[in-house]
Amino acid sequence: DLKKLLERYTKTFTITPQRLKMITDNFVGVLEKGLEEPEQTVPMLPAYVFGWPTGEEVGSYLALDLGGTNLRVCHVVLKGKGKFEVTQSKFRLTEEQKQQEGQLLFDFCAECLNTFIIDHFGDANGDVILEEEIALGFTFSYPMQQDAIDHGKLIRWTKGFGNPNTEGRDCAAMFRQSLEKFKVPIKMTSLINDTTGTLIASNYVRQDTRIACIFGTGCNAAYMEHIGNIPKIKSLGLPDDEDMAINCEYGAFDSFTHEHMAEVRTKYDEYIDLHSNKPHEQTYEKMIAGLYLGEIFRLVMCEMVDEGSLFLGQNTYKIEKPYSFDTAFLSLIESDPTEELLTVTGLFTHFFGLDTTIVERKFFRELAKLIGTRAARLSSCGIAALVIKMGYLEEGCGVGADGSLYSKYPGFADRLHQALVDIFGEKGKKIVTYQAEDGSGVGSAIIAAMTKARKEAGK
Ligand code: BG6
Ligand code: GLC
Repeated sequence: DLKKLLERYTKTFTITPQRLKMITDNFVGVLEKGLEEPEQTVPMLPAYVFGWPTGEEVGSYLALDLGGTNLRVCHVVLKGKGKFEVTQSKFRLTEEQKQQEGQLLFDFCAECLNTFIIDHFGDANGDVILEEEIALGFTFSYPMQQDAIDHGKLIRWTKGFGNPNTEGRDCAAMFRQSLEKFKVPIKMTSLINDTTGTLIASNYVRQDTRIACIFGTGCNAAYMEHIGNIPKIKSLGLPDDEDMAINCEYGAFDSFTHEHMAEVRTKYDEYIDLHSNKPHEQTYEKMIAGLYLGEIFRLVMCEMVDEGSLFLGQNTYKIEKPYSFDTAFLSLIESDPTEELLTVTGLFTHFFGLDTTIVERKFFRELAKLIGTRAARLSSCGIAALVIKMGYLEEGCGVGADGSLYSKYPGFADRLHQALVDIFGEKGKKIVTYQAEDGSGVGSAIIAAMTKARKEAGK
């Protein structure tokens, strides 16, 4: 019966404080290894953003954001003292666009940007005359190997993207080619990851920010490192005493070997991994991120259907379709305010044509809680590892966080904070996550401003 099943799934998805500590300890070693040697599983990518913003950055910038749920174009006016204004347009990418020829994807980005510029800066004839050149920051949120702020070679696609002829190539060059094709009168001056943007945007408004995380479609973090502590780039001769942002790409933690989370990785995680377009990659991310939580939930339901403990006599074909159960449904199930869980009733009838009993609905709520809590608790390990590595525990620090899971999933932040206390004891309370400022918009603009200032200073 469902009570017994719930006990089973509680065992499957619960992560003890002791296990969190073990994962965190191993995580620290993996982060260090990524700084020491090139091409590691967690690649700890130098982002070529040097030091914190002053908070006095000002000016008008454009930002393009590819890598979360939407493609966004933003116009950002920085006003200094942590103040800014943003105007933006969103475009939803189709599944097809995520798999088509890479150049076509960048063409679409350039087209959306062009439309935005004509709408916002064009005259009645659609002619665009800009008083001065506006710099564009491009937030391209996938692992990129960079050797300068305005170049970046895509190491591999993540988050289900699979566009051919893009991995291994300079995405800045590909995007510039598309800008030329559509004659977009704009110069791209910086190429960044969403975590790096979030790090800088958060620090612009809250100076105790030391780390930034994204918990959205994917999961990742960035922080500021002393250049002297990045052995793998020693030969570049960058000044040892300066700081540079590192995009950890730690969604890749435990990829390939699956050794650090073997005890908590379930058959559902393994199934998702093996049936993804990138088997054995992004192991940590696949257990945490928004792209996958609904799918974990769905796989459990399918297992129950197969065992004959759910939806007997009903047609379940809709729920058997991979990725048909969105992570947003888990949020809805967990936050249903009605005694009878009527939102859950509606969800199952409307989207899947399935009738549910109140006992089943209560079971679903517990199951969502288990899967959502596991994700939040595992999320704490990456943050905790960075805190240990950088010695931030004594003083405490702010962690800017963004992404649909962090901002929309009920209780995600509280569960993450509880896990930090499980790892660090009371001191864990000094590590505080908070809703970040828009990293891809505001962060990208600040970085464009910092890059300009650095150029003008002859660096
Ligand atoms: C946005 C940030 O709010 O969240 C982006 O500004 C980030 O930088 C995005 O990429 C990630 O969230 P999701 O849920 O869209 O993947
Ligand atoms: C994936 C990407 C990473 C990004 C994260 C959050 O992990 O590889 O670059 O920061 O998703 O969007």
